[in-house]
Amino acid sequence: MPTRPPPNPTPPALPIRSTDPIVVLTGAGISRESGLETFRDPDGIWARVRLEDVATPEGFARDPAQVHAFYNARRRGLLDPAIRPNAAHAALAALEGFWPGGVLVVTQNVDDLHARAGSRSLIHMHGELLKVRCADCGATTDGRADLSAADACAACGRTGGMRPHVVWFGEVPLELDRIGAALADCGLFVSIGTSGNVWPAAGFVREARAGGAHTVELNLEPSEGASLFAERIHGPATAVVPAFVGRLRAVAAEATA
Ligand code: APR
Repeated sequence: MPTRPPPNPTPPALPIRSTDPIVVLTGAGISRESGLETFRDPDGIWARVRLEDVATPEGFARDPAQVHAFYNARRRGLLDPAIRPNAAHAALAALEGFWPGGVLVVTQNVDDLHARAGSRSLIHMHGELLKVRCADCGATTDGRADLSAADACAACGRTGGMRPHVVWFGEVPLELDRIGAALADCGLFVSIGTSGNVWPAAGFVREARAGGAHTVELNLEPSEGASLFAERIHGPATAVVPAFVGRLRAVAAEATA
């Protein structure tokens, strides 16, 4: 008689050592259960706004007021007290605290939920919604208030150049050298809540694999590049991320036993 698999099979042992560095890539999906919108889901931001209008240098040059209105609304949304880090952000912050090999979180998100949860080894490769930058002199400062084309830069005094410190399509993401070095060196690469549509982040799994890392996708559904990952776990971030971090905790505990 054929035997059935058990209802909750034990996941395979992770082929990593506790001294291996970990790189985690996150996208909008990790913040969805905190109440923030994703981009490419049917109810996502790009279903109701044209990215060419609000997320390109050309769109900003054409209509700065429209771009400011878009980011002002998102900034106000992020500052709503109801928006808080969720169990997935918290699990990654805990991982940084107990993993001997070191953890780098690289996020495509411009929200501050990883930092609020306690992640400190963190790169915002697409910038930060709570920072503003002067396009004229490059000065970057914290900014929680609405921005407008009439605002003057506190550093150079010029008006018209103040913009969100957010990387737009056609611009180069931040800290790519540091990210590349970390991907080449890591023993585990985990991608969480990203559709794998936007480069260069979509190529990180290949870079990590080239360096010999184990690769894992944690996403609500298979992403564009799901087949590139050695392991794929699909479900909501608040369930699958804490469970996966639990497996890493077991690896760390075994090493010290
Ligand atoms: N848990 C886990 N994954 C989720 C959840 C959830 N609760 N909800 C949605 N997802 C998944 C979706 O299935 C999708 O694959 O998160 C992914 C979100 O994909 P996108 O909306 O494309 O967001 P992201 O990949 O972060 O976009 C990358 O595109 O427009 C730009 O600059 C923007 O940084 C952004 C970049």
